[in-house]
Amino acid sequence: MHAAIYDIAMWPVEKLFLHRLRRQLVGGACGRVLELGIGTGTNLPYYPDDVKLVGIDPDESFLEEARRRTAALGRSAMLLAAHAEEPPFAERSFDMVIATLVFCTVADPKQAFREVHRVLKPGGLFKLVEHVRVRNSVGARVQDLLTPLWKHIANGCHLNRDTLSLVQSNGFLVESVREYLRGLVIEVKAHRRSE
Ligand SMILES: C[S@@+](CC[C@H](N)C(=O)[O-])C[C@H]1O[C@@H](n2cnc3c(N)ncnc32)[C@H](O)[C@@H]1O
Repeated sequence: MHAAIYDIAMWPVEKLFLHRLRRQLVGGACGRVLELGIGTGTNLPYYPDDVKLVGIDPDESFLEEARRRTAALGRSAMLLAAHAEEPPFAERSFDMVIATLVFCTVADPKQAFREVHRVLKPGGLFKLVEHVRVRNSVGARVQDLLTPLWKHIANGCHLNRDTLSLVQSNGFLVESVREYLRGLVIEVKAHRRSE
């Protein structure tokens, strides 16, 4: 999906719901922050000015739009083409990692979580918003049935990923989980466990 189409398709959801979550998630960011799958930069307006932001995304058309948005906001951010499974950064080099609506799509989420753990400083914060597999078994079955088709339409997006379990089993201490839309969307705040 091209960046312009993505932004148009997401516009109603942003206006009705997501913008509040973004403000909440990103508004408290501080220090050196890595945003995974930054997309068209929809979170950019909500970052505090003093954040040192680095954003990665494998899709150049999305990054181009994120760069345009960064300039329009008069911000500075380092935006690079890279996958969450292979972020080209030193270990323990970020205070915070943020991801919104990304772990539904990454090809190898376990590897991406390992990398989040690697690049975060011990005790560093990992915050994400994600749509996930619902607990209701009928709803989850519908998600399973729709996912093969949806993956084709929406650039590999899975409707049925249990992202919270993946966070919990990959070296993070979950501090809070907020659920929205009957558990379809979660907001997670987790700390990197120190070895
Ligand atoms: C649904 S969009 C979300 C974009 C943005 N985070 C937002 O909140 O609007 C998913 C994004 O994840 C990116 N993406 C897909 N695979 C990825 C990967 N392996 N690593 C990092 N980003 C990825 C896509 O290019 C796209 O920009």
